[in-house]
Amino acid sequence: MDSKAKLSAISNLVFELTITNSMTPDLDALLERLFELLKHQHDLQLEPRGAILLQNPRGRYFQVAQCGMEPAWNTRMHWDSPVFSDPVVARHCQIEDIVLTGLSGERHASVPARMVLLPLHIEGQGIGYTVMFVPPGCEMSAIHMEFMNDLALALSGLVQRALTNETLCIRELELEDARSDALRSLWVASGYRDNGTGWHVMRMSNFAQAIAKAMGLSEAQRELLYIAAPMHDVGKIGIEDAVLRKPGKLTPEEYEVMKTHTDIGVTILNGKDALIAAARDIAGSHHECWDGSGYPRGLKGEQIPLLARICTVADVFDALTSTRPYKQPWSVEAAHDWIMAESGKHFDPAAVRAFDEAMPEILRIRELYRDDIINPKQVLSLPPIKHRENAWIPWDDDLSVGIGVIDEHHRYLFDLLNDLHAVVVNKRGARQVARLIKALDAYAKIHFRAEEQMMAHYGFEGIDRQLNQHHAFEEKISEFYEELHANPMVAQFDVLAYLRNWLVGHIRVEDAQLVALTRA
Ligand SMILES: [Fe+2]
Ligand SMILES: [Fe+2]
Ligand SMILES: [Fe+2]
Repeated sequence: MDSKAKLSAISNLVFELTITNSMTPDLDALLERLFELLKHQHDLQLEPRGAILLQNPRGRYFQVAQCGMEPAWNTRMHWDSPVFSDPVVARHCQIEDIVLTGLSGERHASVPARMVLLPLHIEGQGIGYTVMFVPPGCEMSAIHMEFMNDLALALSGLVQRALTNETLCIRELELEDARSDALRSLWVASGYRDNGTGWHVMRMSNFAQAIAKAMGLSEAQRELLYIAAPMHDVGKIGIEDAVLRKPGKLTPEEYEVMKTHTDIGVTILNGKDALIAAARDIAGSHHECWDGSGYPRGLKGEQIPLLARICTVADVFDALTSTRPYKQPWSVEAAHDWIMAESGKHFDPAAVRAFDEAMPEILRIRELYRDDIINPKQVLSLPPIKHRENAWIPWDDDLSVGIGVIDEHHRYLFDLLNDLHAVVVNKRGARQVARLIKALDAYAKIHFRAEEQMMAHYGFEGIDRQLNQHHAFEEKISEFYEELHANPMVAQFDVLAYLRNWLVGHIRVEDAQLVALTRA
């Protein structure tokens, strides 16, 4: 390769790569195309494999894309080289020997290799390397090194574009979040006025989600439902305390006042977008009945919006099975039987069928969002539910801490973690990653509070250490959430590794000691 050939090779390469990258911001695809193009540059002696490693804000490198190599989550490979312990990214390409160590399948492997490091910079700031490999002992001529430096520059631009793309998705999500947060503060306010906690609302919207899933609603519709369902009783903000908080049964006049919470909800939720419209449908119609005997309008059958019909079943089931100041809770069986019997009368038959089908999941949701103190001696016997096949970190019975409810909480955290892993490896985008991290964060908090309440109530000795660790975890997750905005590609791998280690470690070491409470 002379300097003219070099120039034309690099300009062709950059041109081709830019086209690839404008179709998809996927870095794996970018590497694949790169190696395909480099195949023709025999004199470079490059092996057909490589990876992109980017830094997190603390200067640690993460393998975020690869070609011809195992992805990081399969191998747990270590890039053992002084280069990757130096947070300062080199200015120019260099060649280094490295021993790649990691788990490949079941076996440990240590393979010596020689790598070409192409530094990646964005606006003068080092962000990581593209790593390629050459045969042992290989040296590169000055002109080849120059070619590599030009390539590194081009790759920097392309990686930057991919990062910008992801960041834009996150911004979009932030806007949506701001909107649903505003709505959420409304239901929190109404919920607290109503019964002092948000538990009913949380259980009810998760039940509704399970029913919608069994009915085969699209993901988009389920997402609307998930954000809108908690607002079903928002109109209770407008009901006077004397009625809303009356400890006993309401008089017929008071009941009429109470019924107006549906119309008040419709008035509050006034706006054009899909989310507000869904929330308005639910708030206005969740007390309508399939046979037309409900309120406020006596709508019948499919005149009642679908999402409202789903919420009705979820709302009634939770109301029946919960303690209220004026009534004892019904047993799950009694509530289930009653709902089945009211199919086609109070409820939409299709929603009732789905409710029946989703019963295993509904029973589990009840345990995940309990509002009482967990009894360590309670033995849970839930019907089995289908867990993900080929989970990244399958639940293992030796993770059991001997307390049924706590185990169920932990299993659910594992499910969320496996969902997150699936989203990351299937490249569903930073948006979905952010969603799941939020869900994990929200549920971890619920679980921690439940666990801490139980420890405090039963006088568990290790409670302080638990409190500290839970707190550290919460801090860390919110840090990751911030990081996801700055550098989405790295943060998602970073967070996966952290979550796996923390969850497994904390459950095995700290939570395992909770078993003492079952013997007390
Ligand atoms: Fe209501
Ligand atoms: Fe726990
Ligand atoms: Fe814990």
